[in-house]
Amino acid sequence: MIVEIARRRKSIRKFKPDRFDINILFECIDAAKEAPSGSNAQPWHFVIVEDFALKEKLREVCESGERKFYSHVRGELAEWLHSKGLSWQKPFLTDAPYIVAVFAYKKAPYSRESVWIAVAYFLLALEEKGIASLTYTPPNRDEVAELLKCPPEYRLEVLIPTGYPDEQKVKEPRKGLDEIVSLNYFGEKM
Ligand SMILES: Cc1cc2nc3c(=O)[nH]c(=O)nc-3n(C[C@H](O)[C@H](O)[C@H](O)COP(=O)(O)O)c2cc1C
Repeated sequence: MIVEIARRRKSIRKFKPDRFDINILFECIDAAKEAPSGSNAQPWHFVIVEDFALKEKLREVCESGERKFYSHVRGELAEWLHSKGLSWQKPFLTDAPYIVAVFAYKKAPYSRESVWIAVAYFLLALEEKGIASLTYTPPNRDEVAELLKCPPEYRLEVLIPTGYPDEQKVKEPRKGLDEIVSLNYFGEKM
């Protein structure tokens, strides 16, 4: 059941380096490509990074962007990042056996919305197969895109490290239905 898989899925930031069968990724991308998209343009492209030297470069580029980001971040976001123990260091980019970069074709209608729906399908398919993931959005996406030889008409949306989890964590809480659903008019209680 999708609801059970959705409830079970959580972001994992520590991965075992063990490889899994790459065909699992192809199967999950096969699910992702079934997502709806504006004018059925299917504006997504997936790059699977498995070469260790390239993952090292990816981490280097992302961490340099993160250092700048963390030196400026203030307020509520800074507090939230601190409470989660997050820092500029992104070891999951070299630990996870595969990093899946997802790109959006900029000229397609509603391309970003469409690509993120495909990302959601992909995350749920991974969860169903017992593969952990994280939606990591580097602050310097253009530099990362350049490293991965992304053509100018595409935009990097997200890097998704995938692998077996090396941490046990409780899922972050979700709001209740009564907080997020209204009947007929926004704010009208059910
Ligand atoms: C659009 C988007 C961007 C995100 N960017 C990051 C990120 O850059 N780094 C990170 O560690 N987590 C990132 N996350 C993961 C969220 O922090 C996480 O989904 C949220 O805290 C809820 O936790 P859960 O996924 O374990 O349920 C992102 C999630 C989304 C949907």
